[in-house]
Amino acid sequence: MISDPISLGVDLGTSELKALMLDEAGAIVGSAAVPIPTSHPRKDWSEQDPRDWWNACVTALDTLRRNDPAAYARITCIGLSGQMHGAVLVDARNECLRPAILWNDGRSSNEAALLAESFSADLAALGCLPMAGLTAPKLLWLKSHEPDVHGAIDCVMSPKDYLRLRLTGRRLTDMSDAAGTLWLDVRQREWFEPMIAATGLRREQLPELIEGTAAGGTLLASIADQLHLGRTVVVAGGAGDNPASSIGIGACVPGRSFVTLGTSAAVVTTTDRPLAGIAHGVHGFCHAIPGRWYAMGAILSGASCLKWAAKLLAAGREPDLLASLSAEIPGDGAVPVDAPIFLPYLAGERTPHNDPQLRGGFLGLALDTSASSLGYAVLEGVAFALRDALASIEASGVAVGSCSLVGGGARSGYWAQLLADVLGRELHTLIGSEFAAGIGAARLGFAAYGIDSQQLARALPVKDTYSPQVSRTGTLEERYCAFRSLVPAAQSLGRVRHAAAVRAAEAR
Ligand code: XUL
Repeated sequence: MISDPISLGVDLGTSELKALMLDEAGAIVGSAAVPIPTSHPRKDWSEQDPRDWWNACVTALDTLRRNDPAAYARITCIGLSGQMHGAVLVDARNECLRPAILWNDGRSSNEAALLAESFSADLAALGCLPMAGLTAPKLLWLKSHEPDVHGAIDCVMSPKDYLRLRLTGRRLTDMSDAAGTLWLDVRQREWFEPMIAATGLRREQLPELIEGTAAGGTLLASIADQLHLGRTVVVAGGAGDNPASSIGIGACVPGRSFVTLGTSAAVVTTTDRPLAGIAHGVHGFCHAIPGRWYAMGAILSGASCLKWAAKLLAAGREPDLLASLSAEIPGDGAVPVDAPIFLPYLAGERTPHNDPQLRGGFLGLALDTSASSLGYAVLEGVAFALRDALASIEASGVAVGSCSLVGGGARSGYWAQLLADVLGRELHTLIGSEFAAGIGAARLGFAAYGIDSQQLARALPVKDTYSPQVSRTGTLEERYCAFRSLVPAAQSLGRVRHAAAVRAAEAR
C-alpha cells in the first residue's frame, strides 16, 4: 500500500462523464467532465454509443493527468458509478452490437406490461414492478424487434460495466446496478433465473456479480500503459448513480434519506433489509454495500423540466428565469394562488404512476399569466411529483425523515425552499454535492483497495438548511390536491396520443 493513495471516481452520467481524484482525507484533488451525446432515432427512444463513453473516459483521465501529474501518479484504485438500467449488448469479441438503450427510453412499455403480468407474484424478489426503462423489458423488445441482435448477444451489461470491461477486460457488475436490471433476486443478491429466461437469455449472458465494495480485478496491462496508470490499480465493483450518490454524501446508513434533483429526480432512503411491500412504482434495490438496500421513488423529469421551461421562456438561460420568478414571486411570501398547475411528466413517469405514455401539461392559464408564474409552476410541479415519490416510499413501510438535497437542482436556493415547503421536512444542501456520485465511486474504490469502511459514510459539510414554512402549507396542500386531480385526465390523453402514434407508425 502506498502512503498517500488517491482513488479515481468515474461517474458515467447521461449528459456527461465526470472523473475526479479523491484523497484519503476525503478531499477532491482534481476533476474533469466530458459531454456525451444522446440520440433519439425515434420518438421515445434514447440511445448512446458506448464507444463515446470510453472516449469520454480517456479524455477525462488525460485532463486529470495534465492538470496534476503528481496526484494522478498516486492513483491506486478506481470506482465506477453510472446511469442505471441501460442495456449494453456485446458479442463474443466484446464488440457492441448496437447503441446502448438508456434508462429514459420508453420503447418497451408493452414488454414491461407483459412481464408485470407474468411476474406479479415475484415483486419482492425483483424489488420493483417491471417498468419500461428498466433493463429486462428492453431485451424482450429486442427479441421481437431486432432478433438478429438478440441472437448475437454474448453479454448484456449496465453502462458503467462497459467501462470496466474496457479497463479490466472483465465482465462484472455490482449488486446495485444488477438490481436495476430486474434480473436480480434482490433479497438473495443472486441472479433470478425465471426473469432471465423470460427475456430469452441465459445466466451465462449476464456478468458475474460482486459487491460494490469488492475488488473486481486490475487494469489490463495495455490499458494501464495507455492511461499512464499503474498495472496494479484495483477496480471496485462500484455502483449505480443513485447508490453511488448515497455513499458520496454519507447517506448510506440505514434510515438516512436524500433527494436527488438532476435530469431525472428521486427520493432515496437506505435500509438494512429488502423492501417488504413493492407498490406504487417504488424501487427496493440492493445498495452497493453488503447487507444494505435502499427504497427509491424515481421520477423521470426533474431539473430537465426547468431546462425545458428556460428554453421556451428565457432563451435557455435558467438563471434569468429563476431571477425573474423569484423577484415576482418571493420564496418566503404567499404561494401564488393564480399560478397555473404544472404536471412534470415530460417523458412519462415511473413512481408512482408507472406510465411511459403520460405527458405533462399546464392547467389554469389566463390572459395575464406571466412567464414567471409558468416558471414557478414548473418548480412546484416537480416538487409535487417528488412528494408523490416520497409518499410511495413511506407507503411501502420505510420512514423518510429530513433529507439532503443533491443534483443540479440543488444550486437554486429558491427551489430548495419550495421543496422543503412541499415535502414538509427539513432539507440540507451540501458543499461538494455536485460530485456526489463520483465521490461515492471513489470511496468504493478505496474500500476495494482495503481502506477502512468508515470513509464510506463520511458526511459532506452542510451548506444551507431549509425548513418548511408553515404559513405556506395550506395553499400548497390545496394546489397539490388540484395537481393530483389532473393526473387521470393527462393519463387518458397520453393513451389517446399513444394509440394515434401507433396507428400512424403501422400505416407507414
Ligand atoms: C434511477 C434512474 C436514473 C438513472 C439516470 O432509477 O433511472 O437515476 O440512473 O441517472
